[in-house]
Amino acid sequence: MKNLVLTGFMGTGKSEVGRILSEKLLYTLIDSDSMIEKEQNMSITDIFRLHGEEAFRDIESDVISRLSKLENVVISTGGGAVLRESNLDTLREKGLIVCLTAEAETIFKRVENNQDRPLLQVDNPLQKIRELLLIREPYYKNADIIINTEGKSPEDIAFEILREVKQNEFSQNPI
Ligand code: S3P
Repeated sequence: MKNLVLTGFMGTGKSEVGRILSEKLLYTLIDSDSMIEKEQNMSITDIFRLHGEEAFRDIESDVISRLSKLENVVISTGGGAVLRESNLDTLREKGLIVCLTAEAETIFKRVENNQDRPLLQVDNPLQKIRELLLIREPYYKNADIIINTEGKSPEDIAFEILREVKQNEFSQNPI
């Protein structure tokens, strides 16, 4: 089976769902943000603060292009990774792109007490979430599988993804 690549806005549950999927599939879980922090020896917040978003996106693209070459992995990407089309193109070579979605209010509730998302450290984070969702919607729609996470547990979401993946694989290679 192909790699699974989790995309979607901050707070849609990519990390937790990724963990469950990797356990079920016996795949290695790789989180691109954690890899960036490890390689740069710096938090995402500090990378944004010291070098800015564009520099972060360059680092992110470099990490993603290396991760794309691996096999039997679940890759959890940062919420803005979809913004560069080349990221999804390379990830798709060996992977199925899954996008997790949620309403702005739900995302807000999940991230409001969290300080490690530099893009949301503004006076009105809910409005910022709405703005970013609007800009990013067309990019998230490029995924192969889109899963609405509203009202679902991470286990339910993982189960739904695996069901969709099987259907997707069957439609690509019918017997
Ligand atoms: C970002 C999402 C974050 C992280 C960075 C930028 C974004 O990852 O990559 O703060 O642009 O949406 P999570 O989606 O894992 O929070």
